[in-house]
Amino acid sequence: MCGIVAYTGHREAFPIILKGLKRLEYRGYDSAGVALLNGDLSVYKKQGKVADLEKSVEGKNLNGNIGIGHTRWATHGEPNDLNAHPHYSQSGDLAIIHNGIIENYDSIRQELLNRGHQFTSETDTEVLIHFIENIQERSNTSLEEAVRLALQKVVGAYAIVVISRQNPKQLIAARKGSPLVIGIGKEEYFIASDATPIVEYTNEVVYLDDREIAVINNDGLSIKNIDSVPKTPYVQTIDMELEAIEKGGYEHFMLKEIFEQPKSIMASMLGRVVADKHRLHLGGLIEYFNRLMSADRIMIVACGTSWHAGLVAEYLFEELARVPVEVEYASEFRYRNPIIRENDVVIAISQSGETADTLAAIELAKSKGAIIFGVCNVVGASIPRATHAGAYIHAGPEIGVASTKAFTGQITVLTMMALMLAHRKGTISESKFREFLIELENIPAKVEKALKLNDQIKYISDIFKDARNFLYLGRGYNFPVALEGALKLKEISYIHAEGYPAAEMKHGPIALIDEEMPVVFIATADSSYEKVVSNIQEVKARRGQVIAIVTEGDEQIKNIADYVIEIPETIEALTPLISVIPLQLLSYHVAVMRGANVDQPRNLAKSVTVE
Ligand code: AGP
Ligand code: GLU
Repeated sequence: MCGIVAYTGHREAFPIILKGLKRLEYRGYDSAGVALLNGDLSVYKKQGKVADLEKSVEGKNLNGNIGIGHTRWATHGEPNDLNAHPHYSQSGDLAIIHNGIIENYDSIRQELLNRGHQFTSETDTEVLIHFIENIQERSNTSLEEAVRLALQKVVGAYAIVVISRQNPKQLIAARKGSPLVIGIGKEEYFIASDATPIVEYTNEVVYLDDREIAVINNDGLSIKNIDSVPKTPYVQTIDMELEAIEKGGYEHFMLKEIFEQPKSIMASMLGRVVADKHRLHLGGLIEYFNRLMSADRIMIVACGTSWHAGLVAEYLFEELARVPVEVEYASEFRYRNPIIRENDVVIAISQSGETADTLAAIELAKSKGAIIFGVCNVVGASIPRATHAGAYIHAGPEIGVASTKAFTGQITVLTMMALMLAHRKGTISESKFREFLIELENIPAKVEKALKLNDQIKYISDIFKDARNFLYLGRGYNFPVALEGALKLKEISYIHAEGYPAAEMKHGPIALIDEEMPVVFIATADSSYEKVVSNIQEVKARRGQVIAIVTEGDEQIKNIADYVIEIPETIEALTPLISVIPLQLLSYHVAVMRGANVDQPRNLAKSVTVE
């Protein structure tokens, strides 16, 4: 979710807002815009970079001491000028900027359409500002009260700032699930998604908490919660260096994104999984869901990490929905003249939504009559536009070249797809369905717990940072995780690493084992545990160094392996969401210790748009 900047005070607002949006550029986005109060309420917005917005407003009236600015990471409605923020209310007297997702925007939109509202964009955000104004008009209340009443009815995540032509000195801000910081200067206030745009003006800040509403006007700053209970602003002094803040305090984007995974996995499920109501709903699939129901085969096309997510999906769909699955490298599929039958369904997985090989595979499959579902992170990218249906993973911008939160977001969405299909087909019991939903909601907390292994993994990384080769071994659901762990290590530390099914060792790779070869086993308590224990013993018998990812409380493997990393237990089919975490951290720390450029590894690009 991208960037918010707002200002009110004695200075010109536009230069401060524009510079603030540039400071937030590291968060990745697809469009930008500003609204300024200068007697009039002027909105300027544009698809593209902040620099494109800057160019587009040359010569415009940019005066005013109060304004709001936004960089968008689209979730509802493609990246274009109309969907960019800020958005006007129906009357044009209000404007809003928003980071987050309003899950129930569709029902609110319908209600407002019935009341004669007209919308110019496809966004959930425009619905919210119309809703606020409609409440203000119907209840004849203050704008602050209308914001509060509207937010009480909103389901989803938001960080918003609202300005009004009628209150030219007032900013109203609120948050739930998306961050907001208020900077307090001398007779001036700043609001932003993080402290990056603020620290050069003041280091006195107030971090707004969830379900709080802040009002800034001539009387200063006041805060209430969504139930109108006043709260004394807690002013903190930040002493972070600007550079550090741009990565949210992390040394690299990759580490930030690894640690974002509890939140990003939750975002993938937001509004889709409601375990206590046994509800699972993926709206983007509905129109073509019958084709999934009648599929004789599911073909998955992807590249790299997304291909590994596809391999996990193969186990999920076959175990839960009992439908045959084939996972194809998109680059191979597209040149193979594949046989695609009438009842085949294709799932295309891509973080960037721009991978050329995957896009080409989609076009080929479409030309042969297949229905294509997309699982992507970037809204409005080429791949989502080329598919018939799909589900976004809502992981937020992934800046580090090595994919981490996108992988767990993809698996979360693919798990929900397989569960939804299995439940509709009746290939899993109601109790198993509910068990999965409840455990899915537990996953973010278990990932949070796995992230606490960071120091232990850093210690292990230091021991093996000079290894020349690594082997990663796993079985079942953890075989794709072994492949992913190997890819993570090789692409950012430049150490050669290979992933294998653990049983495959004896068909060749075991010849590689000696005391110089670290072998990472994913040996969690699952249906193949005893077999993996035997594989560990085979490696130890040849003096290999074993690092084992085990289920917490494991008493057996600690007597065999050289290093044991204990992760929380979960349902076997959900294990990849947790067992991948230590492997992400291991690759990160080894790469840092080797002085590699973690966020931009040599020879790589974040999105491979060439063939
Ligand atoms: C993963 O860490 C790599 N950056 C790479 O393998 C990536 O997964 C692959 O290029 C596919 O990208 P996509 O998910 O954006 O299609
Ligand atoms: N859901 C809003 C949109 O799609 C906001 C997205 C964001 O956080 O940038 O416009």
